[in-house]
This record gives sequence, structure tokens and C-alpha cells, in this order.
Amino acid sequence: MKDFVFCSPTAFVFGRDTEQQTGSYAKKFGRTKALIHYGGRSAQASGLLDRVKASLDGAGVSWVELGGVQPNPRASLVYKGIELARQEKVDLILAVGGGSAIDSAKAIAAGIPYIGDFWDFYEGKAQVKDPVPVAVVLTIPAAGSEGSPGSVITKEEGWLKRAVNDESLRPLFSILNPELTFTLPPYQTACGAADIMSHVFERYLTNTTDVEFSDRLCESVLKTMVQDVPRVLKKPDDYGPRSNIMWAGMVAHNDIVGVDREQDWSSHDIEHELSALYDVAHGAGLAVVFPAFMRYTMKHDVMRYAQLAVRVWGVEMDYQNPERTAAEGINRLIAFYRSIGLPTTFEELGAKAEDIPLMAKKLNLVNGRKLGSFNPLETADVEAIFRLSMAGAN
Ligand code: NZQ
Ligand code: ZN
Repeated sequence: MKDFVFCSPTAFVFGRDTEQQTGSYAKKFGRTKALIHYGGRSAQASGLLDRVKASLDGAGVSWVELGGVQPNPRASLVYKGIELARQEKVDLILAVGGGSAIDSAKAIAAGIPYIGDFWDFYEGKAQVKDPVPVAVVLTIPAAGSEGSPGSVITKEEGWLKRAVNDESLRPLFSILNPELTFTLPPYQTACGAADIMSHVFERYLTNTTDVEFSDRLCESVLKTMVQDVPRVLKKPDDYGPRSNIMWAGMVAHNDIVGVDREQDWSSHDIEHELSALYDVAHGAGLAVVFPAFMRYTMKHDVMRYAQLAVRVWGVEMDYQNPERTAAEGINRLIAFYRSIGLPTTFEELGAKAEDIPLMAKKLNLVNGRKLGSFNPLETADVEAIFRLSMAGAN
């Protein structure tokens, strides 16, 4: 196990009707004026936005609003948000939505006090300093941004999708009401599930030893998803499994399940190239990339893959041929993704073979730089993984 410092300072307010406490939590944290930041239609259509505004009004917290965040949130709206937030002197950026609204809110929060271009943070040219606090009313369990220090933004110029991770970007508080997820279309529920599971895989596939406890934490998130996602697809307003999925999604990515180990993240970087170029849902891209990454790296640590197969997928251990056990685990993952309506091939995503060299090149693996830590990848490896995913990693 690695040494670590773990600080997850966010207050999580979990349960039915908790969005009605948005105002009182903003006030409790000394906030006086919020920029409410949200996506396309869902938060308006469900009446959630009105309830959040009423809650702020009730607590005497004033607000302005900026909607229109697209999935794979764009830099252009971040610039608008920074300008508006500065003009209005807000002291809270309140995201109402999923990872896209939250990440855009974090980018605005970081950009407000910074004199230069906020994109500098996403290019590693500057470090986030004293961002305006961010709070969240979550509507989709997926990205885990409600508890994470991360933000991922797409810059339209060159279609660059880049991430920043800074501890100061962890939300002040996050409201998690599982009822808000009842309206999710099945496809979005499934995409969210693939993202949550991938956040665990990025951590589970590690070279760090003596991490038995956090392995078990990882496995429990995965088993919860495997059990509960089919249940909510059958019955979208089933509060029990919806709440388990929502909490598992937070736990999967605030780092409690992986803080003690070396983590990989190459599948995420590879997927970001897909969603940047084709504007596909991040979770859908991961459902295609991750099984291919697993096939490609299986030989690096067959026993770890076999452990995953046995403990999560219930595959019987073949002691004579552990590779068979490991490979069966990957088969079961692909079958699970298919069963919940996710794409598992490059083609189903609308991706094209001729774009593979461009996507691999955009990862900029030059001067000896490699991707990930489990089985570090060079450009040729990334291209091979893309090619494997063309056939659905079969
Ligand atoms: O825009 P609206 O109308 O709200 O519709 C959204 C959107 O179309 C819809 N939706 C959300 N909640 C709903 C709902 N529809 C009905 N009922 C509800 N309750 O779902 C669609 C997807 O929303 P989005 O916010 O894009 O989803 P997600 O949470 O998956 O976020 C994806 C983004 O997060 C990034 C991804 O790269 C992607 O850009 N990530 C952020 C991370 C982080 N900050 O730590 C880590 C992740 O690995 C990920 O990279
Ligand atoms: Zn993700």
C-alpha cells in the first residue's frame, strides 16, 4: 500500500427532497449570491430548477443563472460564465445537473480570480488558485464530479478535451437526491454505469501490492452496479437501487477506493479523444475502449484480471489456466454492457478507422512519455487498442 493524504471535504446531503435544502446549505457556508449553472432541458422540464431557486430565495441567497451546458462541456460557455460571475460578483457557482454542468461550473470557479485564460489550467500552464466555491445538485450518477477534484472541458478550437485535477475544486456541498434520477433515459443511466465502473477499473488495475482492503471496496462498487443497473432499467423509479447507484457513483471517484495505490487512467485519456472527435457520451466511449484495453493488457497481470473475474463476475477459477478465467471476466463485462444497451464496438459509436492515427497522435506520447501506469502505453499501443475496439474486443 502507498502512503497517502486523503481529504474529501465535501458535505454530502443525501436523500429524498434534499434539493430543498440547497439554500440553507449555501447560507450555512456563508454564501450570499449564486450563479446557477445547468444543462439543456432536463432540470427545467422536471421543475427541479424552480425548486432550487425557491430554496435559495427562501434562505435569502440571491442568484443569477446560466444554462445551456452541453454534454462534453465547451470552453466557449465557460468564458461567458466567468464574465457573468465577475459582473454579478457571485460567491458560489451552483451546478444543477451531471458531470458536464459540474465541470463547467468548476472551470468558471477557477477562471474567475485568474487574470489569464482559464484554459491554461487544462494545459498544465497554470495551477488553480483560490477558486470560487462550487456546490452541486446532482441529477445523474456517472462522472463522480460531485465529489472529485476534477473537471474536464472541451475546447472547440482543435477539439481538445482536457482535464484538470485540483483539490481546491472539490465541491463545498453536494445534494444527492436519488429521486432526481428517475427521469434519466435508459441510455444515460447505462452510460453513467459504464463511467462509474470505469472509475473503479482505472484504480483496480494497479501494480501496487497489499491493497486487499481497497480491492474489496472496488469490488463492492462493481457488484452493486452489476446488480442494480438492470433493476432500474426495468423500473426507473425504484428508489432503493437508484440510491445505491448514486452513492456508489460518488464513492467510485472521490478516491476513497484508490487513494492507496498507483492508478492507471489511460482508458480515460483514450476515451476523451473519442468523445472530443465524435461528441459521444463519455460512458459509451468507455464501454468500447475499456474492454479493448483489458484484452490488450491482460497478460501484464493475469492473476489480477482473474481475481476480478472470480470476485465480481462469479467466474470459476481455472487453476490450470488462469488466463481463461481472466478472459472470461472480460467477456462477461462486454456481455453486461450489451445487456444494458451500451455500444461495445467502434462502429456503433460512429468512430472511423481512418481517424485512429489522429486520435493517437493527439495524446502526444512523444519524448519517451507513456500513458498510464499499469502497463504504460506508447502511440503504437494506443492505436492497437483502438483497432481492437473496432471489433468489440472479441
Ligand atoms: O442537458 P440536460 O438536458 O440536463 O440533459 C443531460 C445530458 O443530455 C441528461 N440528464 C442529466 N440528468 C438528467 C438527464 N436527463 C433526464 N433526467 C435527468 N435527471 O443526461 C445527459 C448527460 O449529462 P452529462 O452531465 O453530460 O453526463 P455525465 O454526468 O456523464 O458527465 C459527462 C462529462 O463528465 C466528464 C466526462 O468527460 C463528460 O464530459 N467527466 C468528469 C469527471 C470529473 N469531473 O471528475 C470524471 C469523468 O471520468 C468524466 O471524464
Ligand atoms: Zn469517467
